[in-house]
Amino acid sequence: MFDQEIPLPPCNFVIFGATGNLASNKLLPALYRLELAGKLPEGLNFVAFGRREWDDASWRDNVKAILTKKVNAEGPTLDRFASRFDYLRGELNDPQAYVDLKAVLCKPKLGVCSNVVFYLAIKPNDFSAVIKNLDGAGLSKPRGLHRIVVEKPFGVDIESAQMLNQLLHRYFDEKQVFRIDHYLGKETVQNLLVFRFANTLIEPLWNRNYIDHVQITVAEDVGIEMRADYYDKAGALRDMLQNHLMQLLTLVGMEPPPALEADALIDEKVKVLRSIRPISKRSVHAHAFRAQYKAGQSGAEQVAGYQDEAGVELESVTETYIAAKFYIDNWRWRGVPFYLRTGKRLKKSLSMIALRLRHPPQQLFRETPLETLEPNWIVLSIQPEESMHLEIHAKQPGLDMDTRVVRLNASFRTADENPLDAYETLLLDVIEGDRTLFIRFDEVEWAWRVVDPILKYWAQERDFIHTYAAGGWGPLEANRLFDGEDTEWRNEV
Ligand code: BG6
Repeated sequence: MFDQEIPLPPCNFVIFGATGNLASNKLLPALYRLELAGKLPEGLNFVAFGRREWDDASWRDNVKAILTKKVNAEGPTLDRFASRFDYLRGELNDPQAYVDLKAVLCKPKLGVCSNVVFYLAIKPNDFSAVIKNLDGAGLSKPRGLHRIVVEKPFGVDIESAQMLNQLLHRYFDEKQVFRIDHYLGKETVQNLLVFRFANTLIEPLWNRNYIDHVQITVAEDVGIEMRADYYDKAGALRDMLQNHLMQLLTLVGMEPPPALEADALIDEKVKVLRSIRPISKRSVHAHAFRAQYKAGQSGAEQVAGYQDEAGVELESVTETYIAAKFYIDNWRWRGVPFYLRTGKRLKKSLSMIALRLRHPPQQLFRETPLETLEPNWIVLSIQPEESMHLEIHAKQPGLDMDTRVVRLNASFRTADENPLDAYETLLLDVIEGDRTLFIRFDEVEWAWRVVDPILKYWAQERDFIHTYAAGGWGPLEANRLFDGEDTEWRNEV
């Protein structure tokens, strides 16, 4: 999947927030695996920008220690990888730090200072300071050359997203901006496109004539993991639904693009977002349900409720669970509900897309009413298992004419094929300049537009939130969103 115009590989890769969680948990391991796979360009230099007191040598030792612990890294490859790093100590809002950065980027060993990737692995509040300071030090120039990678959430609502975008575009062209949603780097998510558009068997079923409803679940068993300063202001809607789950919805809902290239694919995703039926103020309750976890049992562990997590505001009503219902009012999907849900401290970590098919017109094989017949399902599990299967009926062996559900399994990874981390795929795309799996601004904008009425309505209801016990499947009250009386959440792959 390449853009037609293949850009030059970068010679410098600057990580803002290099000492933070994202860098040590995701970016360093993924970049190291790219080194192992021989995918990092010769001469690519990393600059770790952080607030802590390291120098080049101690930072390189730190990188080695992190990678040894996290991915059992060792040997000459690890040495080569660590030696690509320089460390620059600086404050994100200090213009002088960017002058220093420019000096590091132009060090003689690297030749001319050209083609840099700036990766913003920092809190959204700091984005604008970095963007302005890069420009102040002349690091956004020449226009059109460098790449800037922006982590989600992109803004906190539609207005702030538009402002952030205007600021970016003051200094960078759209083709230089890589807005990351790491769900798009997951293999099953990409496989969804292959599953849908490479199989004649599937495509005819993929519409309102055969699909009863769609469920998209991203459940996590963890809590907010010491991220209260960010999460308490964001909540599950901004943290997960507006981006990761909406992206999954667009990939399920989109029409086949004319070609598998960035703009063609994104155009189709945007059409889906534009077709989502707007939620009026009066119908927010019928379309969205929020709740917060209270203390409970997560596996063998007794865990605290959200309000008792360190850093959460007293009596916070931030949601840690959201379930929502959307309709895509177009030719393919009119009338088919898409149920989305995500939550922290649920029974287990599980991400999946499940499409329930309609019942056949007549039940011939059992003396049970048609409505109680197990429906057919198409299930795509994204994690922890990466699998796809169809659930269909076949005859139960024996004298009676009974049926049972069997699975047609289309799982695609064999035991000796290692799973890729989403960041590995996406970081390589940044280096190669391929924007297919990144988010264009109109996608962000439309996704905010879809959820905006819910955000605004909830912002006025600040005195109450439903709760659910940690370690379960979330609040039962969320079932009120279902259209069909026989609809329930699917909690297993
Ligand atoms: C991040 C959210 O974008 O995605 C986190 O900020 C969440 O709150 C994480 O835990 C989930 O990602 P994954 O890949 O573990 O499903």
